[in-house]
Amino acid sequence: MRVIIQENYENMCKWAANYIAAKINAHKEDRPFILGLPTGSSPIGVYRELIKKNKAGEVSFMNVVTFNMDEYVGLPHEHDQSYWYFMHDNFFDHIEIPAENINILNGMTDDPEGECARYEEKIASYGGIDLFMGGIGVDGHIAFNEPFTSLTSRTGIRDLTTDTRIVNSRFFDNDPEKVPAQALSVGTGTVMDAKEVLILCNGHSKARALAAMVEGGVSQKWTSSALQLHNGAMVACDEAACGELTVDTYKYFLDIEKKERL
Ligand code: GLP
Repeated sequence: MRVIIQENYENMCKWAANYIAAKINAHKEDRPFILGLPTGSSPIGVYRELIKKNKAGEVSFMNVVTFNMDEYVGLPHEHDQSYWYFMHDNFFDHIEIPAENINILNGMTDDPEGECARYEEKIASYGGIDLFMGGIGVDGHIAFNEPFTSLTSRTGIRDLTTDTRIVNSRFFDNDPEKVPAQALSVGTGTVMDAKEVLILCNGHSKARALAAMVEGGVSQKWTSSALQLHNGAMVACDEAACGELTVDTYKYFLDIEKKERL
């Protein structure tokens, strides 16, 4: 696992956007580049940087197909907290990408199992995901794979923990009851199948999760720790998120990745 420590959130986002753009630009195959994408506050700065690059002609999304990580159950597209709305508002409406290249789980479906199975099939039909960008919850979840979700889980319905609903209530009038109780989510196994995974981890609130993901044992308690078994896993983080790493770990990654520091 690589851990790229940047001084602050802005640099973390610039690094991640540069990395993603470089990967898209280096992709010379006929088939599209398949990009997995997250929601949440962490990726907003990355989307901002990618929009800038798209407008400046530095990266094109015309041959990119996207798959989002997750979606709340029961929120229609036009709900301003649906992940469909979030992605269009923060990214897709500002770049040139064919609408048919965008894939987001439908949280309003009356056949959630079928919806999730079809999502997995569609990913597979493209030959898998080239690069999956993700965020991380304070409890270490990736997508909505809460603690004790199987590390080999596939796309399916997830119950949100009370803790996650409390954390996400900041977007729902600070009322955890207004946060949907369920979501459709890719599985940890789905993320693990991507050729590369890039996790964004910033701010003091993520310090425990970063330490567990990087230094702890592989454990279903911290589902992102599965990435220790991935051959192309990277974490881009800021200094604030490093507070619970041992000094040795922190120094190791600063040293080994020093050329990457912006
Ligand atoms: C939600 C999403 C996750 C995201 C997490 C962290 O729970 N399902 O995919 O990583 O929030 O969000 P934030 O980046 O706002 O801290």
